[in-house]
Amino acid sequence: MDEVVASAPGKVVLFGEHAVVYGHPAIAASIAQRTTVTLRTTEEPGVHIGRARVDFERHPHLATMIAHLWDETASPGLDLSVTSDVPRGAGLGSSAAFAVASAVALRAAGGRAVDAGTGAWLEGYASDGSEVALFHGGHDVRRNAEVGERRFGQDALSLEEASLLGHVAEAMSQDGRASPMDTLTSAYGGLVLLSNRLEREDAWIMRRTMPMGDAVRSWELHRLEGLHFEEGLSLVVGHTGINAPTTNMVAGVAARRTEETGIDETMDTIGALVHRGMEALLAGDAEGVGRAMTENHLLLRRLGVSHPALETLVSAALPTSLGAKLTGAGGGGCMIALTQDPKATSEAIELAGGRTWITSFGTPGARLEACPKGGLINPK
Ligand code: PMV
Repeated sequence: MDEVVASAPGKVVLFGEHAVVYGHPAIAASIAQRTTVTLRTTEEPGVHIGRARVDFERHPHLATMIAHLWDETASPGLDLSVTSDVPRGAGLGSSAAFAVASAVALRAAGGRAVDAGTGAWLEGYASDGSEVALFHGGHDVRRNAEVGERRFGQDALSLEEASLLGHVAEAMSQDGRASPMDTLTSAYGGLVLLSNRLEREDAWIMRRTMPMGDAVRSWELHRLEGLHFEEGLSLVVGHTGINAPTTNMVAGVAARRTEETGIDETMDTIGALVHRGMEALLAGDAEGVGRAMTENHLLLRRLGVSHPALETLVSAALPTSLGAKLTGAGGGGCMIALTQDPKATSEAIELAGGRTWITSFGTPGARLEACPKGGLINPK
């Protein structure tokens, strides 16, 4: 049977959560846990999940992807299925992984028209958010062979497009407020750094702008590549089992900024620490990275976003690891530990009541796993 399969990873925040909301940089890393989306053609027109037509209220991310990447009236019917080992509601970027994997699968299946001579896109989405001629000369380029050559599968893919559409999908389902951190990490994999300014010319990949309420926010997006750590360095993710919505945690920090003194200074210290963490990462100094993580945790505690269950898991992890901290919004959710002995660290966290996952450092980003030569429009 013809099918298209794409997968994308979840993420953890190594440094800088919360302070990133106030313009400081943050560094995130992809994890080994992935979400996989499979598309198969069906007789029924439209896109279905488990035989039912996709309910756009229940699946806002998918609604955005279909609206941008799949012509439901002219393309074959699709059945979409999802498997994932990224836990949901734990701050590990499960919705971003789903959005990015869906974007990759739909683009590979539907293909992309390109200029036969130059290979330039005749349709698609670029990082300034502008649409590049989805319809060309009044004809849908997907059907019009003369306009350009249509490429499918790997040849139609763009990580930039997948991360951009993923970000748009997150913003659409979160009242317009979403940072590009999760979707960028899921699309590109490895380590990504975002900031409101250019941090390192050699690591910069693009500027992303997105309207948010009355303002337009912009981020400078970077990738930290070529990292060299000794074999055997792992991250252990520990889940408290407590679900704390990110919006509430961000609102709590905003309130404390006006009620308490020293919060902005703590943010500044976190900003400086992110730079220190970045230097340690680039130098392959695992102990320096671990120390900066633990310091970041103490500063996050000062912002009021830790939780007794997070403290228990971080304390349990520290004796066998190089450093540990909460990851993401806090108030529950997950913590991470950098360790050379993942088995011991994972056992210690589990004994303290956490559920654990082990991941290596810098796992691959979004990936097309399978696709017929002509996608699902024109399978060969
Ligand atoms: O819990 P997560 O992974 O959604 O992370 C939230 C990170 C914050 O810095 C707290 C919020 C944000 O939008 O960056």
